[in-house]
Amino acid sequence: MRLIRTLFVAATGALAAVGLASAAGEYRKPEDHRFSFDGPFSTFDRGAVQRGFYVFNQVCAACHSLEHLAIRHLGQPGGPFHDPAYPNPNDNPVVRAIAAEYIVEDGPDEYGDMFERPGRPADRFPSPYANEAQGRAANNGAYPPDLSIITRARHYGAPYIRSLMMGYGEEPPEGVTVGAGLYYNPYFPGGLIAMPPQFEDGLLTYNDGTEATVEQMANDVTEFLAWASDPHMEQRKRLGLMVLAYLVILCGLLFFTYRQIWSKVKH
Ligand code: HEC
Repeated sequence: MRLIRTLFVAATGALAAVGLASAAGEYRKPEDHRFSFDGPFSTFDRGAVQRGFYVFNQVCAACHSLEHLAIRHLGQPGGPFHDPAYPNPNDNPVVRAIAAEYIVEDGPDEYGDMFERPGRPADRFPSPYANEAQGRAANNGAYPPDLSIITRARHYGAPYIRSLMMGYGEEPPEGVTVGAGLYYNPYFPGGLIAMPPQFEDGLLTYNDGTEATVEQMANDVTEFLAWASDPHMEQRKRLGLMVLAYLVILCGLLFFTYRQIWSKVKH
């Protein structure tokens, strides 16, 4: 009995603590949205991941790193620029061209100096800042977090990133003062974020003719970040499907074996 009471008190205490925490960092639940990769057998929308990479590169990369990814990951199976003609993504010309647009620091050379060279597929995506202090100094003291696993690092995942990117422009509720260098965004815990609004309709021109509305760019960049957070999702789901098919066939075989064996026994 005492144990039950102690457990009960502990549980209500924990609940109260969670309640307090969410009161401190209140935020609006993200809008529901069906992404192409939701569901046990679905895949990424390749066009959306490609467009999302373009958005990331043109807009987000100025402030955010993607440190868990190498450029060649774009060309591996399941990646946005995978081409079966190039099983080794280091040979994929599209990936090579993307890599060559980055300037990467390398070295030391034979004189002990660091030098810069065009990127190669094997390089990691270069970070916009040399270190965290530089990143904070450039952003009013707030550090733009690394985005390579962001859809898994936030409670509501992909829908949160999408809503956050579309969530600017509302009047802050009464009593909320938006300090210098901050912006009101009801989806961000606490409602005040140091990241300025990133999108406006027509900001970019997609080369597949898709119209770059705020919602479209938010969908696409989220699709790209979801792929970046889980680049092997498609292979994993395919394996799961194969295991299921195998189990179904095995069940069928076992059933017929069972019938076969028992058919000889008189009941
Ligand atoms: C001018 C710099 C800048 C650019 C460009 C930028 N961000 Fe940010 N971002 C920030 C800063 C600063 C923060 C930290 C905000 C804070 O902690 O208040 C941030 C935070 C974030 C967060 C984390 C929010 C959280 O829950 O902690 C996400 C997600 C994000 N940015 C996505 C993006 C995406 C996607 C793009 C490109 C479309 C982008 N950002 C472009 C500066 C930038």
